[in-house]
Amino acid sequence: MQYEVIIPAAGSGTRMGANFNKLFLQLNGQTIIERTVRVFAEDPNCTRIILAVKEEETDKFKQLLQSAQEKVLFIPGGKERQFSVKNGLAAVSPDCEIVLVHDGARPLIKKPYIDKLVEAANRYGSAVLAVPVKDTIKRVENFAIQETLNRENLWAIQTPQAFRVKILQNAHLFAETHAFLGTDEASLVERMDEKVMIVAGSYENIKITTAEDIGFANVILQQED
Ligand code: CTP
Ligand code: MG
Repeated sequence: MQYEVIIPAAGSGTRMGANFNKLFLQLNGQTIIERTVRVFAEDPNCTRIILAVKEEETDKFKQLLQSAQEKVLFIPGGKERQFSVKNGLAAVSPDCEIVLVHDGARPLIKKPYIDKLVEAANRYGSAVLAVPVKDTIKRVENFAIQETLNRENLWAIQTPQAFRVKILQNAHLFAETHAFLGTDEASLVERMDEKVMIVAGSYENIKITTAEDIGFANVILQQED
C-alpha cells in the first residue's frame, strides 16, 4: 500500500538546549534528520516525503538531504507543530489515499512498523504506533498526587501516525474551527469522535527530546551494528 509522509521539522529544540534545531545534531556520524528521512526514502511504498521546515533553515536541510531529493518536497513550517503538519497536508497529492505524519525527531523508526501501521490505517481509517507504559502514571497538581491511573489502559503514543487523507483533513479543519491545539494528529481525530486504532510499536522508537536521549539513541544504534 502506497503512502505519503509529512515530517514536521520546523521546531526549535528548546528542551534539548542546543541553541539550534536539534534535528541537525549527529547520531553515530549522521544527523537526526538524515536518519529519519532515509527510512522513508528507502521504503518503496513511500511515494513522497513532505518536509515542513523553517524558511531560514531550508538550504541547510536541502544540502543534508540531497541524496533523497527526488522524493522530498520542502514546505514552510508553522509556529506550532500542528500548523507545520497542516501546511504539509495542503501539499499532499490529490491521488494520495494514506498519509503518515512522523516526527523529524524520531530517527529510529523501522520499516516493519510502518508496514503494519499503513495496513491498519487502510483498514480502520486512523492508526498510531504505541507502546504499553512501564511506569506507574499519576495525575499531579502543584506537586500533589491527585489520582493514580490504571496502567493496564495506558499506552505511550508515538509517531508515525497514519490516516486516510480525508479523515486527517477533516480533523485539522475541525481543530481550526474549535481553536483546538493538540500535540499529535490522533488527538485531533479523537475530537471528531472518530476511532483511532493502536498498533504495537517498539520501545526503541524514541523521540529525541532532551540531551540524554542522544546517548540512548547512540546505544540503540550501536546494538544494530
Ligand atoms: N515541529 C515543527 N514545527 C513546530 C514545532 C515542532 O515542525 N512549530 C517538529 C519538530 O521539528 C519535531 C517534531 O515537530 O521534529 C516534534 O516536536 P518536538 O519534539 O517538540 O521538537 P521541538 O519543538 O523542536 O522541541 P521543543 O518542544 O523542545 O522546543
Ligand atoms: Mg515542541
